[in-house]
Amino acid sequence: MSLIRNFEPFDLLTFSKTVETPCYIYSEKRIRENIRNLKAAASPFFSDFRLQYAIKANSNPHILKIIAEEEIGADCSSPVEMKLAKRVGFDMKKSTYTGNFETSSDFKVALDTGCVLNLDDHRRLKDVLAFGTPEVLSVRINPGVGRGSHAGVVTGGKDGKFGIPHEETGTAYKACVDAGIKRLGIHMMTGSNNLDDSYFAEITELLFDIIKKHISPLNIPLEFINIGGGLGVPYKKGENELNIKSLFSSVSDVFKKRLPELNIGTPKLAMEPGRYVVADAGILLTKIHHIKKSYKNFVGVDGGMTTMVRPAMYQSYHPVTQLESKSGEAGEYWICGQICENTDVYPEARKLVNPQVGDVLAIENSGAYGHVMSSNYNHRPRPAEYLLKEDMSILKIRDADNEADLFLKYPDFKW
Ligand code: LLP
Repeated sequence: MSLIRNFEPFDLLTFSKTVETPCYIYSEKRIRENIRNLKAAASPFFSDFRLQYAIKANSNPHILKIIAEEEIGADCSSPVEMKLAKRVGFDMKKSTYTGNFETSSDFKVALDTGCVLNLDDHRRLKDVLAFGTPEVLSVRINPGVGRGSHAGVVTGGKDGKFGIPHEETGTAYKACVDAGIKRLGIHMMTGSNNLDDSYFAEITELLFDIIKKHISPLNIPLEFINIGGGLGVPYKKGENELNIKSLFSSVSDVFKKRLPELNIGTPKLAMEPGRYVVADAGILLTKIHHIKKSYKNFVGVDGGMTTMVRPAMYQSYHPVTQLESKSGEAGEYWICGQICENTDVYPEARKLVNPQVGDVLAIENSGAYGHVMSSNYNHRPRPAEYLLKEDMSILKIRDADNEADLFLKYPDFKW
C-alpha cells in the first residue's frame, strides 16, 4: 500500500501544485507514531530502554524538535550535530557522540555539550583525557560481522572502518578503568536497513560472547549495551515490515539468558535507529519536465541525484506514485534526473499510466537519508522542506537554495 496513507487526509496533489518542486514533505504524526511504536514494542521487555535517534538520518531542526519532544536521546556523528542536539532540546545525558576518526576538538565538544562519548578507538583515550575525564564512556566494538541492505551500508565485519576489532575489547576497557572512568557502556552498529528481526538477537548474543571473554574477567559493571540502529523499512513490494515486537522479545531473551553469567551488573538496552523513525514519514515531490523515447523510455524529473542520492549511490529502490489519477494502460518508464551522470536514474523501469509533462510523482520512503545527503552538484539548488503538522497545517521548514546561495563562500565573487 502506498505510503501516502501517512499523509491522509491531506491533499498532496493540490499542495504539489502550489509549491516549487522538487521538495520534501514530512508528516509530524508519522514521526511521533514511529517513536511511540518503538517505545511500546520495547516496554514489555525492557523497563528502562534507552532510545536515541540517529540525527544523521534527517537533521532538519524542526524535525529534531519534534523528536526531542518525545523525550528520547540523540546519537550524533559530528560536533555540529552535538551542538544542534543540545540546542533543539535533546537530553544530552541520554545522547551519544559516535564519531569515526574523530579530531581532538570533536572530543572537546562532546565533553562541553555533555554528550556521552562513544569512542571509535580506545587509542584515542589520551586525546580525550587532555580535556578532562569523561563521567561516562562507551567504546564501539566491531564484532566481526555486519549486515545491511547494500554493501555500502554495512558497517561491521572485516572491511568495517568503524570501532575496534573485538579481540581488543579487554585492552580497551582496562585502559578506560585505568584512566579513572567510572561509568561505562558498550556499543556496536553493524549495518543499516535490516528487515530480519532475528538478526538483532544474533548480534546481541555475539556481543555477549565478546563481553564474557573480555570484560567479565575485569569485574566492570556496564551501564548500557547499545546494539546500534539498523532497523530497516520495506522499500519494495514483497518486503515485509520489520517485526519490532519480536525483535525486542528475542533480544530480551538473550539478555535474560546471558546476563547472569556475565558479571557486568544490570545494563540497560540502548538502540539508536535513524531510518525507522523518519523514512516512511517523508515524501519527495518531483515534477516531470520531459518524456524522451530513446533506446529506453525516460521520464525526466527535477528530483534526481542531487535531491535524492540513494538510488545513484546504493541502487536503492524507492516506491513511486503518480499523484494525478490516470486511466489507461501502464507503460514502462525509467525515471531519471537532470544531472550529468548516467547513474542519475531511479532503479528499475516503473509502470506509469500516461505520464505527462507537469505531472507530479511522489517518491516515497524519502524521510531518511534524503535531504541530508542532497548536494549542489551541477549547481542545482537543494530543495525546500515542508512539515505537515498534526493539525494538517503546513509549515515550510527549509527554503530551497537560491542561485546566490550557491556562491556565498567564494571570496571576491558575488552572484
Ligand atoms: N548509529 C550509527 C553509529 C550509525 O552509523 C548509523 C548509520 C545509525 C546509528 C543509524 O542507522 P539506521 O538506523 O538509520 O540504519 N546513507 C545510508 C545509510 C547509512 C547509515 C550509516 N550509519 C542510506 O541511505 O541507506
